[in-house]
Amino acid sequence: MNIGIDLISFHAPAYYLDLRVLAEKRGVDPDKFVVGIGQERMAVAPPDQDIVTLAANAALPIVEKAGRENIEMVLFATESSIDQSKAAACFCHRLLELPARCRCLETKEACYGATASLRMAAAMVAQRPQSKVLVLAADIARYDLSSPGEPTQGAGAVAMLVSAHPRVLALDPHSGFYTEDIMDFWRPNYREEALVDGKYSTRMYLTTLIEAWNDYQAQSGRGLADHAHYCFHLPFTKIAYKSLERLHKAAGVPLPPKEEQHRLVDYALRYNRLTGNTYAACLYEALTALLDHAPTPLDGQRLGLFSYGSGCMAEFFSGVVQRGYRQHLFTEQLRAELDSRVALTYRQYEDIFNYGVPRDGADHVFAPYRGGPFRLAGIKDHKRRYEPK
Ligand code: CAA
Repeated sequence: MNIGIDLISFHAPAYYLDLRVLAEKRGVDPDKFVVGIGQERMAVAPPDQDIVTLAANAALPIVEKAGRENIEMVLFATESSIDQSKAAACFCHRLLELPARCRCLETKEACYGATASLRMAAAMVAQRPQSKVLVLAADIARYDLSSPGEPTQGAGAVAMLVSAHPRVLALDPHSGFYTEDIMDFWRPNYREEALVDGKYSTRMYLTTLIEAWNDYQAQSGRGLADHAHYCFHLPFTKIAYKSLERLHKAAGVPLPPKEEQHRLVDYALRYNRLTGNTYAACLYEALTALLDHAPTPLDGQRLGLFSYGSGCMAEFFSGVVQRGYRQHLFTEQLRAELDSRVALTYRQYEDIFNYGVPRDGADHVFAPYRGGPFRLAGIKDHKRRYEPK
């Protein structure tokens, strides 16, 4: 029995900052951002959008298309949690009008959380093949203003319906994984912005890629040539090329010419270049981009996927694209959303950054901004109030 991603949908906030604007403000050559790290725009979430609304906005097209029956679990992966106790999945469960007979919980291991959730979802479906699991991943990536991480900020959410007989991607059972207790990127509870040792984190990403790949290869017996394309976790898109190079070096296979390198990784970078780092959602945003942009159909092709969560946890796994998958994508809807985003001035970006969601414990009402079908209307008596638009 095949198990995997039946439907997948990505959603980004309706605002962005062009990284050329940021470069000018910071006195940096814009090519450092656009070419050096491979980012063009960063998505910016306005005050009335948080991880709950971003995820519910991503998931609504899926539940409208597939129906709500048999969704027996919602797993919400995030490192931008809004509550120390209540799972963001519970808020989404109500907004999406899912059945009461449903388990809801939140998962965390930095950007790896969505992959952990996907694996747990597949295990549950293997036990109960009639059931479906909604996996949500949403994050708002924040670093200190003027820090090296600032140009890699971003925001967005992915929703995936996991089922038996999936219409988009069947997961292979084998995967390679690796963990090590390190401090490369973290966010203590008292901080809104992540702390990161940028160069060390990049080194560890690439080191653990090879550890996970070696384990995957040992488990599955597959080599590089068995994968038609690769999707990597994308803290910044340039890392996909560094990863491809590392993989070839580790496998003792010569790096292919530039054109072939582009074919292997570039389609998967198209959305992340425009949104920045979406942490837990990143890898699956890359998968969505590949499915939406590959010029020839990927039916029957095997993809290699690499998930990295700082702290750290890495997993390399694979899946086979299902025949006719193109009919089940939300490509046009997503393109329309991205094309209609509003560019912010530097001042507007900084104002939104500094406003955040107030932490003073007082009641607040948020003015409506552009965005998807759900919004955070305000906070009253320490409770977030969400509403459909
Ligand atoms: N034109 C073209 N390229 C230029 C350039 C110019 N004018 N100026 C610089 N560059 C290139 C550099 O040569 C460099 O390329 P290489 O890496 O290929 O050598 C690249 O631009 C970046 O330059 P620097 O290394 O000088 O950049 P930096 O020190 O300012 O920081 C960073 C880069 C460490 C990635 C930083 O953005 C950062 O800290 N980001 C956050 C942490 C992060 O993303 N870590 C990734 C792994 S951790 C992870 O994956 C989890 C997660 O999601 C956070």
